[in-house]
Amino acid sequence: MNYHLTSFGCQMNDHDSERMKGLLESLGYREAAVRDEADLILFNTCTIRGSADDRFLGNLGEARRIKRENPDVVVAVGGCWAQSQKAQVFSQFPFVDIAFGPGELARLGELIARERIEAVGAFSFDGAFSGTLPAKRERPHHAWVQISVGCNCVCSYCIVPSVRGKERSRDARQILDEVERLATDGVREVTLLGQNVNSYGRDLPKDDRVSFAELLRGVGSIPGIWRVRYTSPHPKDMREDVIAAMVETPTLCEHVHLPAQSGSTRVLRRMRRTYSRERYLELLARIRDGIPDVSVTTDLIVGFPGETDEDFADTLSLVREAEYDGAFTFVYSARPGTEAAEAMDDDIPPALKSERIQALVDAVHATSRSRAQRFVGADHEVLVEGPSRTDPTRLRGRLRQNITVNFSGDAAPGTLTMVTITGASSTTLAGEQVGVPATA
Ligand code: SAH
Ligand code: SF4
Ligand code: F3S
Repeated sequence: MNYHLTSFGCQMNDHDSERMKGLLESLGYREAAVRDEADLILFNTCTIRGSADDRFLGNLGEARRIKRENPDVVVAVGGCWAQSQKAQVFSQFPFVDIAFGPGELARLGELIARERIEAVGAFSFDGAFSGTLPAKRERPHHAWVQISVGCNCVCSYCIVPSVRGKERSRDARQILDEVERLATDGVREVTLLGQNVNSYGRDLPKDDRVSFAELLRGVGSIPGIWRVRYTSPHPKDMREDVIAAMVETPTLCEHVHLPAQSGSTRVLRRMRRTYSRERYLELLARIRDGIPDVSVTTDLIVGFPGETDEDFADTLSLVREAEYDGAFTFVYSARPGTEAAEAMDDDIPPALKSERIQALVDAVHATSRSRAQRFVGADHEVLVEGPSRTDPTRLRGRLRQNITVNFSGDAAPGTLTMVTITGASSTTLAGEQVGVPATA
């Protein structure tokens, strides 16, 4: 039997998709190269913005066509969109055989066996984190490690808490054991994952309670693991002890993804982010003081209900003041059931939203391009990932600061090598491996 999986959304879904693949392969399934050749068509969905729904529904239409031609094909839909639709999936899309939420991944095998059983319901986590399932990793030397699921925040625009449930931390011993196994397996870099990683541990029983900073130190001292990253922290939970752990643990990389969402305190309050622009900038200053040469990235939303020209100007000025190395920028999208969708008018006209996102993208490019110049002319440690995506005669790797480098050289994937950085765009660097003559 062959399966074909399409994954949408964030790193949690990337993680879960690797587990779905691992689970299916442990059941004897093999990955099909194209959707048309699969006996099982599987989607891991996202519903964070309206555009995520649209993208998935386009793909689902394609699955409908395949199933019409071959009724034996099984169509399965997992993830956040499925959870948000619950049983409606089956009435709206009768050709879907299986639907399940992000908390029901461990039951995928059983669901395939009992095909056409309605699986979407309450969050039935049955004590299992998807992190306990076998994985088929996309990058052999990198692994996603789930440390918590769900989110207890109440950001007024966000649908995640309603589809991923309350925050639950995974037992620290389980996490450390997993990373030790990964190291034995040749993994050199891990990224700890959670919707709000730095509130990790607060829900654990007192005797087993480990803070995020302690967990970072623990993971960071496992032999064989050279680089440790994490995403995403919430600014409100970013404590001194985390900064100290990053400073004192050599494997913890100099990169912080610190989602700001807006540069306007007034908008931040309406978003229920629980920090002001000033507190955010103070935190950033402490991070920059503590961690030399740290790179900082963020998430920003434009067009939130009631966002004035002045509010938007505050977001633009935040980008310049914070000097981001990169940012994910989004147009606000009203999500069903969220506070912002229910209680606030989506009143920014689409044309103004596009004008603002364009101006924001330009501002981010300007700061990231100028920030990237600091690497040019110096040698930097790169973890090699494989051939360059644009030019297979070159290699691709990453700086500790999480910036991608395309370079000429002969180093093997999964090794560390020194690269002289020769050029920089706003998103990637170019370079030459030290000691290897550049190919003409
Ligand atoms: N838990 C993570 C990621 C949440 S989703 C965090 O809090 O950082 C990733 C990003 O999508 C968010 O940071 C936010 O910038 C954006 N986002 C979430 N809901 C959105 C919405 N309704 N409209 C536009 N962007 C949204
Ligand atoms: Fe959504 Fe906010 Fe939780 Fe992030 S912290 S997942 S933006 S509710
Ligand atoms: Fe999307 Fe779910 Fe992640 S809604 S952004 S896949 S948590």
